[in-house]
Amino acid sequence: MWSVVPAPGSMEVLPGWLCRILVFFSLLQSGAGRTGPVLAPPGFIQTACFSSMFWMRLEESFLKNKFHRIEIIDPSGTPVVLDRELGARCGYILSKDVWGNTIFRASLLACHVTNERDETFSLAVNIQVSAFEDMRAPAIYPHLMRCSYSPWAPREIVCEENYMEVSVKTDIPVISDDEAAPWMSALPETQKVAYQVWQLIFHSPSGRKTTVVSDAGKLGYSFNNTLSRVFLRSPYTTNESEHSVVNGVTMSTVSSTSMYKQRWLLLLIDTTVSCPVDGTIFTDVDIIWMVPTIIPRLVLQEPSFTSLNISMGVGEKRIEEPEKLNYTLERNLTHIGITIPIGADGGRFESTVSHGVYGITYSINVFLEHAWTDTDWKLTKYTVIKPITTPFLPRIPTVVNDTDPQTRLFNVTLGAFLSDVTLVAVTIGNVPLSLKEAGQKGYKITDIPNADGKKSFRLEVPFDDPNVLREYVNKNETKYSLHVTYTLNVGPKGKVYHHPADIECTIADVVLPEAIGYCGKKNMYFIISVEVMDHHWRLYVGNMPLSPATALANGYLLTTNGTHQILQVPPFAVGIIYEEVSFERLQARFDLVLKKTLTMETLETFSVRCSFRSTEFVVCYPNGTVSVSAAMKTLPVIDMSKTRLKDRTCKPKEFTKDQAFFQFHVSTCGTSLRFEGERLVYENEISFEKESLPVQGPPIITRDPDYRLTILCYYPVKETLTQSAKFYAFSSPPPSSVYGYGAMTTRSATAGLRRARQALNIVSNMFKDESFAATYGTRSAVVTYPWKHIFLEVELQDESAEVELYLDNCWMTESERFSSFPRWNLIVDGQVVLYDSLSLSSSNMEQQNQSRSPVNRCEHPSNGTVSFFPVTANERVKYPNHFKRVIIQMRALPLRKVYLHCTATVSTCLHVPSNGFRYKQCTPGRTLGQHSAIHPTCYGYTVTGPIFILHPEKGDQH
Ligand SMILES: *[C@@H]1O[C@H](CO)[C@@H](O)[C@H](O)[C@H]1NC(C)=O
Ligand SMILES: *[C@@H]1O[C@H](CO)[C@@H](O)[C@H](O)[C@H]1NC(C)=O
Ligand SMILES: *[C@@H]1O[C@H](CO)[C@@H](O)[C@H](O)[C@H]1NC(C)=O
Ligand SMILES: *[C@@H]1O[C@H](CO)[C@@H](O)[C@H](O)[C@H]1NC(C)=O
Repeated sequence: MWSVVPAPGSMEVLPGWLCRILVFFSLLQSGAGRTGPVLAPPGFIQTACFSSMFWMRLEESFLKNKFHRIEIIDPSGTPVVLDRELGARCGYILSKDVWGNTIFRASLLACHVTNERDETFSLAVNIQVSAFEDMRAPAIYPHLMRCSYSPWAPREIVCEENYMEVSVKTDIPVISDDEAAPWMSALPETQKVAYQVWQLIFHSPSGRKTTVVSDAGKLGYSFNNTLSRVFLRSPYTTNESEHSVVNGVTMSTVSSTSMYKQRWLLLLIDTTVSCPVDGTIFTDVDIIWMVPTIIPRLVLQEPSFTSLNISMGVGEKRIEEPEKLNYTLERNLTHIGITIPIGADGGRFESTVSHGVYGITYSINVFLEHAWTDTDWKLTKYTVIKPITTPFLPRIPTVVNDTDPQTRLFNVTLGAFLSDVTLVAVTIGNVPLSLKEAGQKGYKITDIPNADGKKSFRLEVPFDDPNVLREYVNKNETKYSLHVTYTLNVGPKGKVYHHPADIECTIADVVLPEAIGYCGKKNMYFIISVEVMDHHWRLYVGNMPLSPATALANGYLLTTNGTHQILQVPPFAVGIIYEEVSFERLQARFDLVLKKTLTMETLETFSVRCSFRSTEFVVCYPNGTVSVSAAMKTLPVIDMSKTRLKDRTCKPKEFTKDQAFFQFHVSTCGTSLRFEGERLVYENEISFEKESLPVQGPPIITRDPDYRLTILCYYPVKETLTQSAKFYAFSSPPPSSVYGYGAMTTRSATAGLRRARQALNIVSNMFKDESFAATYGTRSAVVTYPWKHIFLEVELQDESAEVELYLDNCWMTESERFSSFPRWNLIVDGQVVLYDSLSLSSSNMEQQNQSRSPVNRCEHPSNGTVSFFPVTANERVKYPNHFKRVIIQMRALPLRKVYLHCTATVSTCLHVPSNGFRYKQCTPGRTLGQHSAIHPTCYGYTVTGPIFILHPEKGDQH
């Protein structure tokens, strides 16, 4: 493709160069405002000749925290500061290697190179180093580079990072020695002016463009000729460049023909250059870089193409056996491929932070050289220099918890990091600390080198440090929580990265408070360890928290002796559970419950169980059972076997000479119920029937003392679930002053009762006539005749206006005892017993017991009438619905003395559900016995009498 041009003779250029260097030094010495040239520190500057390039490395460690630049000294000695534009146009590159060292490369054909016969090249530079960004007062290190390069291939193409360069040989015909001399003498002149007559023809898709060489510079190109070559240098992107894809790789191409035209000579040279601009593929483990094997714009006659040699290198070094370094260099018909495992030698990892995420990149600077022949070009040497950096590879650091609970020391390791990461600060809890401050606080921070060259940071913090959170968990454990935020300085750019770590350790190091129970002679005791008692726990008796105030209120005694509290519980106090109550003994248990303050979870129940010998007590159980042990110290002594409850059929379960033990349910044995203040009171009585002689007729003589013992069970109607009972006993002769406390707990989850009233307070009265105005009064006896009416009024007291009283059952007996027999029913289940059928009740039990009663044998039940009488409001009757009036007439009752009994209910009353308060409709007509004794809420009972009935015709008179 090229024609012949007269060959320039050899020329001695060396002395000229020396001269120029001298000039250059003298210039430097006289430079104003500049520090003079200084000797570079050893190792700072390293140079080499790399292919058709000068190569220089400036040590990173020396330039650290300094500013530097490079001045190119042109052959005339004038310094030019290297910048990006100058670099791309003139054939220089200032770059960095993967280690951070500054790399300067210059083409042997660069603008300011002194070229000696296309064989020896030299370039002088000044390296300026300053502490200031504006390069004030720089230290100047002059450096001269010199390289020999020979032979040149007919065509050499270099694809640099910032430019493409093609140089081609302009073949010089062999000229005979004889004729050479005069011709050669003219050569320097020719060479001097030659470039000016060159023209460049660019071929681009937009057409052909011809320009003179002097104008090519304006387009960003650099074109010149040397003794035996012409070259064109182009940035990657110019108006004339085009991008095309070859086998998947984008190539930047500048197609041009260089033309030298003189009168008798026309020289046309193909100066097309084409370089890849991409071709890298990243997999998880490899970098693959591909370059087309045949670049069509450079190989016009493909069949003649023969690849001669392919080699690769890293940095400035050619790698002779790439596979030894795990690189792969492969070639097929379409591609030359280089595969480099990420992390392979020659490259380097670098830490960085992207969007707050820690990660790494891997960089390697490789080059590829491909030599080929084709018919057009005997030899083409094609060099591509390629710096490659992988995309950001996130590497989330791991927190390794090596905490050993035994040492009570958090041991946390954060890693692994490249060596370009430093730990600069930690935040422990909420306290930000520099490493120094952390050390002063007693936190141990250590750099741990890993085997693979990475490093980790270990932090040790004692559990008991104030910045460690502690939380009482489970039964006896403490959860220690360490919250750390690491602040790291990452990579050469010193990016800041924060990494949090939360470490917890739960260990059983809590000593629970303990209460040890023991029995005293008269009391139960607990010794409670107070030194460990803090806000985490509380002791409860049932659902009642134990405190000096509650202790006092419940009759306990709580004393403190510094390290311990002593709780004294008397045997009938609230909270005592009676496990065994018998004639012989009383076994009581008292439980102290240790609860977690926060969750109310029961952690421990401390119990003490004691047996007491007690002759006098009453225990009212939550289920309505009453156990009574009564001692009778009367004079003269009475026969305890003959003591009875109100229902005379209820005898002592056990007895001795001076003690009787009764057990009964509140719904039996004639137990009555009333409401008193805030309490529900069940009352019964132990009495002794005097021995009377004779049996019939009025008693005459008795040796037995009059004896009565009232038993009261109080069921407080309060929010507390603890119920208590008291026992009063009095007798005549003087009360034996037996006084005791009983206590019981209920298992029901009664939340509490707002409304005090639980049992109905009902009273009944007999009136003289149907006006229901006048009673018989308390003093006088009621005397009537069988044919006369009895006016009975039952009144509900202490209830709200809206409730209505119903009479469930009314009956008549000869005795005031609830369960006395025989009885004549007047009202059954709320209905009056109809005329002529006033009947004798015949419950089984009663029938058995009373089957020998003479009345029971009466074959014609008495007749009479029973009717309700309306109630109207008046001064006495405020709420008519609180009253019921009944008019009774008995025709032929063979009775002399009667009592009228009634049980009653109300229409609305309080029901106690487990979760709150609600009103419940009570069904009228329920009898006393049908009600549970635990909460006999809706009924009442009343008895009135006696009424003496005269039977004049029989002459019967009381
Ligand atoms: C071409 O090279 C010569 C000799 O080195 C130089 O004097 C001239 O300035 C160069 N021209 C361009 C345009 O670089
Ligand atoms: C090449 O790869 C192998 C396997 O991954 C590895 O063991 C070896 O160290 C590597 N050689 C070099 C020089 O990196
Ligand atoms: C040559 O190698 C490249 C890269 O490995 C591959 O993509 C291409 O298909 C291969 N071509 C032929 C002809 O084998
Ligand atoms: C840390 O280690 C301790 C001790 O082995 C362990 O109890 C704890 O659960 C660990 N904590 C975390 C958050 O991994």
